[in-house]
Amino acid sequence: MPDFRYQDGEFYCEDVPFRKIAEAVGTPCYVYSRARVIRQYRAFDSAFKDVPHIMAYAIKANSNLAILRVLAKEGAGGDIVSGGELYRALKAGIEPQRIVFAGVGKTDDEIRYALQTGILMFNVESSAELRAIDRVAGDLKTKARVALRINPDIDPKTHPYISTGLKKSKFGISAERALEEFKLASTLRHIEIVGVHKHIGSQLTQLSPYVEALRKMLELIEQLKEIRVEIRYLNVGGGLGITYQDETPPQPEDLSQALAPLVKDLKCTLLFEPGRSIVGNAGVLMTKVLYHKANPDKTFIIVDAAMNDLIRPSLYGAYHEIKPVREMRDKFRKHVLADVVGPICESGDFLAKDRMMPLVDPGELLAVMSAGAYGFSMASNYNSRPRVPEVLVSEKEFHVVRARENYDDLVRGETIPAFLE
Ligand code: LLP
Repeated sequence: MPDFRYQDGEFYCEDVPFRKIAEAVGTPCYVYSRARVIRQYRAFDSAFKDVPHIMAYAIKANSNLAILRVLAKEGAGGDIVSGGELYRALKAGIEPQRIVFAGVGKTDDEIRYALQTGILMFNVESSAELRAIDRVAGDLKTKARVALRINPDIDPKTHPYISTGLKKSKFGISAERALEEFKLASTLRHIEIVGVHKHIGSQLTQLSPYVEALRKMLELIEQLKEIRVEIRYLNVGGGLGITYQDETPPQPEDLSQALAPLVKDLKCTLLFEPGRSIVGNAGVLMTKVLYHKANPDKTFIIVDAAMNDLIRPSLYGAYHEIKPVREMRDKFRKHVLADVVGPICESGDFLAKDRMMPLVDPGELLAVMSAGAYGFSMASNYNSRPRVPEVLVSEKEFHVVRARENYDDLVRGETIPAFLE
């Protein structure tokens, strides 16, 4: 049975009606399906069962401790981009030996923390960073395992804000400089080269850029052999897209079929860093309709969730399907072309634009779909709005895995200095 579905006229997550969650927790709130997270994870993992590999879930997609614990129990590692994500990963029980650390701006403190916990490796993005890691590892009298992140200069054909593998992007070391950088790395006393890393972008709906980038990495690995640099890990990044509207992204099985012939003789462990494809369609943002407003040119459905809760529509023009929680079977119900907007004081605050949808009444609940990835994890307190709760559903049960913030939470850590008294 689908994890999100209508049953007896109402929308369900697993065996729990959304209405029941709204009654207990209020709105807006995020709702996640544990079964869906597990299914997505297993589908990816088992697609590569014949290849030695590590699944390093991209924690930035959804970093709630309970979600991380679900994945840790499946044996997942983690792809982290900050000390904070490392803290979360460890707290949730992800093994440090399965954690990789990416990002262009790692600080000394973060590098030290990662070395002390014994993570698998750093994905290094520049020679300056390589030297910093060497220095900090030297201070700790240890050696840091690293992969160099190579920018293959390939267009992933996705939104520019989530493309990372083009020459003009801030990420990675340019393919032309790769050998130089590996040579430098091999001279540093506290660095142990173990891998090559690439990640070309997110929400990829075509495999060809992925495969093209991989071919470049394989060529590089051959060249590295010639200078006696042995690569043990090939990290192919994350990026598989999901269906938000009508996209038909490749599935892990397709990726596996495309990759298998290329890597069959490679004596490397593959690393994957999927985020969105694991959790994206496992989460929903539930919101309540507050008002209708009809201007001469436009109908607005004003809801209690806003861009601070889910920024993807505002930031990327992203499409998220919106479903009424009470099933609208009546085809004669009035449909309108509407913008679904939140209470924030910005014209860019919308969850849907020019959407043909049933005219849902004030008080009705809506499910904003495909919000499990980069939803709560990108939420903010803009307009001094407390961040919303997160709820994890498991069959008949649901549990608040992050409480709704209150007004005290909003001002925690702020002080009025004595000279203003
Ligand atoms: N590995 C690296 C090095 C990454 O930069 C990312 C995502 C991932 C893995 C995970 O990619 P995924 O499998 O989730 O596509 N906020 C944007 C997405 C930003 C992605 C950033 N990097 C959004 O809401 O679409």
